[in-house]
Amino acid sequence: MYTLKNTKLICTKCKKTFPIDQVYPRCDICKEPLEVEKVSRGGIHEGDILNQTILERYADFFPFLKVDKKISLHEGFTPLVESLNLASELDVKNILFKNESQNPTWSFKDRGTVVGIQHALSLGYKRIGAVSTGNMAVSVAAYGAKASLETFILVSANLPPEKLNPIAIYDPILIKVDGDYGKLYFDSLDIGKQNGIYFINSDAPFRVEGSKTIAFEICEQMNFEDPDYIVIPTSSGGNIRGILKGFEEFRQCGLIKKVPKMICAQASGCSPIYNAYTNNMKYISRVENPHTIAHAIENPYPPSGNEVLRKIRDNEGVFVSVTDDEILQAQKRLTKEGIFGQPAATVPLAAVKKLKNKNIVDKNSTMVCIVTGGGLKYTAVFEKHDLKALDCTLENLSKSITNRLL
Ligand SMILES: Cc1ncc(COP(=O)(O)O)c(C=O)c1O
Ligand SMILES: [Zn+2]
Repeated sequence: MYTLKNTKLICTKCKKTFPIDQVYPRCDICKEPLEVEKVSRGGIHEGDILNQTILERYADFFPFLKVDKKISLHEGFTPLVESLNLASELDVKNILFKNESQNPTWSFKDRGTVVGIQHALSLGYKRIGAVSTGNMAVSVAAYGAKASLETFILVSANLPPEKLNPIAIYDPILIKVDGDYGKLYFDSLDIGKQNGIYFINSDAPFRVEGSKTIAFEICEQMNFEDPDYIVIPTSSGGNIRGILKGFEEFRQCGLIKKVPKMICAQASGCSPIYNAYTNNMKYISRVENPHTIAHAIENPYPPSGNEVLRKIRDNEGVFVSVTDDEILQAQKRLTKEGIFGQPAATVPLAAVKKLKNKNIVDKNSTMVCIVTGGGLKYTAVFEKHDLKALDCTLENLSKSITNRLL
């Protein structure tokens, strides 16, 4: 049995506290998400990242007294790639891309999955689960397999094989559920309680803890001179909450001086948080008939939506939405930097362009875009681009190449 530090879970709204060994991720009074109490003392455990895991390097910022290295697939420690060309094109001081597609299952989800499983093991769980149709399902299936845990993945009944098979390959107990997919998130929490299954869903407190490591790495990669803005494609709100919390904890511990502003970027076809912000609302409303090419961020009623509104307003951050055309243009433009992100992951670049054109972002800004997942996750998108290949016989090859020389 792995033990936990003496800390607690706190309701993000009413501040009621709960024990850290609780799995139910929401407050019983106001139904809003819980979060692990903020860390205000700690530092980085410097080590060789070829052998170290994120749980070890940032151990002071997690509530575990002991971690099991065997469950790690060496997630995190992803590159931060600068683009001088894009900085001059967009007229900003600096733009960098945190390439999360270099995680073991090609998305940022692996960070939260490993932290969630660590918590599940601390509490003696042998079963884990997730409600997801995309990156999170793949991640939980892979890590569940590695940790030899019984793994339940709940997806919607009409999920196409293109999305089902990358989950099924890891051999989880994969259940296609016929019913309201939004309700499934909330039902899974009760089903988990009844059946001893630890659901590491999108905004579960320990998944949010995993996302903190994106902020920690950015601080290290930028020599603790943190950027002005972090641009994050947002759906459930778990990732943006985690990244902001990571910066806040590093500031509380004296590792950085200021917390960057978060840019909550959504797709216009499904932007419940952006809508609530622009309409001056305190709470989000469900989006009817959501539709966007960025399927990974198509949650019509994000479980952390209200908390993202509260936190990003406090942070003096920015809310923005971008169209499918803008997302696809950004996807193509990013390939010129050598990075192929899935549509959701290129929303940040589209957002920077839009905000810069509207003068919402100053030209002296340093921006970090989170490229949350890899392009090969959604190959159907190839049809949306004008992709070319030339035909030629072997005899004509030399001539053909000469003709194309600049
Ligand atoms: C590629 C990608 N980007 C962004 C997100 C949004 O993250 P969150 O639901 O934590 O807001 C997801 C969520 O599944 C995702 O898969
Ligand atoms: Zn509460």
